[in-house]
Amino acid sequence: MLAAVITELKDIPKAKDADLAELRLDYIKNINNAKLKNLMQNCRKPVIVTNRKKSEGGFFNGNENKRIETLKNALELGADYVDVEYSSDKKSIRDLIHNKRKTKIIVSYHDFEKTPGDINKIYVRIKKLNPDFIKIVTNARSVADNFRIFDLIRKANKEKRKIIAFCMGDYGKFSRILSIIFGSQITYASISKRKESASGQLTINEMVGHYRIKKINKNTKIVGLIGNPVEHSWSHIMHNAAFDAFDINAVYLKFRVDRLKEFIDYFRKLNIMGFAVTVPHKIKVMECLDEIDRQAKEIGAVNTIVSKNGRLVGCNTDCHGAIRALKAKTRLKNKNAIVLGAGGTARAIAYGLKEEKSNIIILNRTAEKAKKLADYFNCDYGSLEHLKNIDYDILINATSVGMHPNIGSSPVPPDCIKNGAVVFDAVFNPYKTKLLKIAEKKGCTVIPGIEMLIYGNMMQFRLWTNRDLPESVMKKMIVVYAKNASN
Ligand SMILES: NC(=O)c1ccc[n+]([C@@H]2O[C@H](COP(=O)([O-])OP(=O)(O)OC[C@H]3O[C@@H](n4cnc5c(N)ncnc54)[C@H](OP(=O)(O)O)[C@@H]3O)[C@@H](O)[C@H]2O)c1
Repeated sequence: MLAAVITELKDIPKAKDADLAELRLDYIKNINNAKLKNLMQNCRKPVIVTNRKKSEGGFFNGNENKRIETLKNALELGADYVDVEYSSDKKSIRDLIHNKRKTKIIVSYHDFEKTPGDINKIYVRIKKLNPDFIKIVTNARSVADNFRIFDLIRKANKEKRKIIAFCMGDYGKFSRILSIIFGSQITYASISKRKESASGQLTINEMVGHYRIKKINKNTKIVGLIGNPVEHSWSHIMHNAAFDAFDINAVYLKFRVDRLKEFIDYFRKLNIMGFAVTVPHKIKVMECLDEIDRQAKEIGAVNTIVSKNGRLVGCNTDCHGAIRALKAKTRLKNKNAIVLGAGGTARAIAYGLKEEKSNIIILNRTAEKAKKLADYFNCDYGSLEHLKNIDYDILINATSVGMHPNIGSSPVPPDCIKNGAVVFDAVFNPYKTKLLKIAEKKGCTVIPGIEMLIYGNMMQFRLWTNRDLPESVMKKMIVVYAKNASN
């Protein structure tokens, strides 16, 4: 179930897509019984009454007896759920449980710093109080902290205990969705951005619109992006919209991953379709897989993992995405193409251009890296400054220069951009980079990085589902980009 966290009374109508409303009394001023009753009625859906003290991440700063008193009042007024912290006086918790009538009592434990090693002991201690729900929410300092919380959810399910558990923080964001698949009972969302009551909390719109929270269940297949960072990616919007369009029971998540091998080893045992892989894991991930396909092996990087009968197979869709975006605008055979950059993306694009029989030159800030790549592809190379002396038909930026937030930068100065050339920028945020803006003024044919992303995502979707991403979904993605990306 999805609970909307209400921190301001005027937001109650905005909780309409949630199953529950959590009334955070510690945010609401001058609360009394009449006002509480009124509020509970206004919510028009089951209500969780919560009144957090400061040490539990809340704003209540009055007397502890008074705080517990409001929870007792909520019981008497017939609140559907009351949340009381495990750190409260145990007699008060027992009294609430004893006098609960139809109200369900959630006994909650929070650690805003870490995921403690003795998480099972905490669970056992709360279990002894016999509440309706055991809530354990910790901060993930590493992706691996989530695994302990997931294991705890499984243990509680086996014992037929109702549990609410997930991790806070950037490393724990995905657990707010995944925990529901594993059997956690409630996940929480803010009404809007900047109204989060805890770190890593997503909005109702993100939970419902972007992550299909209302459609997932224990059979939902898991797929998503592995990287660090991953926040900037919007691929989840596209893939989840496609799962909606085809009515596929799957969800695409964003996994901020620090401990890669541990992540792969944990997830390979789960109901996964595969993963997309981004910086900095595209090369390292190859060591964690069962098989690498020929193209990814030759490129030397994996950006897509497909789970085939329990075996993890590494592929590369960056090459396909870039070449398809280029071919939609220009012929490649015998054209003179400059690739700026010598990282993973430059490598995938150079590989594709070579296959298409373009004449390529690799230019990079660090010339030795350009040389290494040029040796591999048997082509010319140089530093970025060499561009002014080279004639070319196609200019490709495969560096990260110009990427959000550094949107004022271009990898090369305006006088190096040839009038009328084809200019492709792999950077996809912003939608139109500084390089593309300058190129457009020079009458060039410009290709934004989003086109590569879309074609790459289409191939990933086919690899994972054996189906083609519908055009309507791709268009929606472009509209989202155009609307949101800074121009
Ligand atoms: N559109 C898509 O679908 C798509 C797919 C994949 C990647 N991308 C984008 O492609 C870009 C490159 O990704 P990657 O995976 O190849 O990264 P990477 O392996 O880390 O390589 C980064 C490249 O950028 C160069 N670079 C970084 N900062 C620079 C600076 N200040 N001045 C000049 N050169 C600089 C590096 O040069 P040095 O060798 O000198 O460090 C290197 O060649 C990223 O923006 C990424 O988002 C787009």
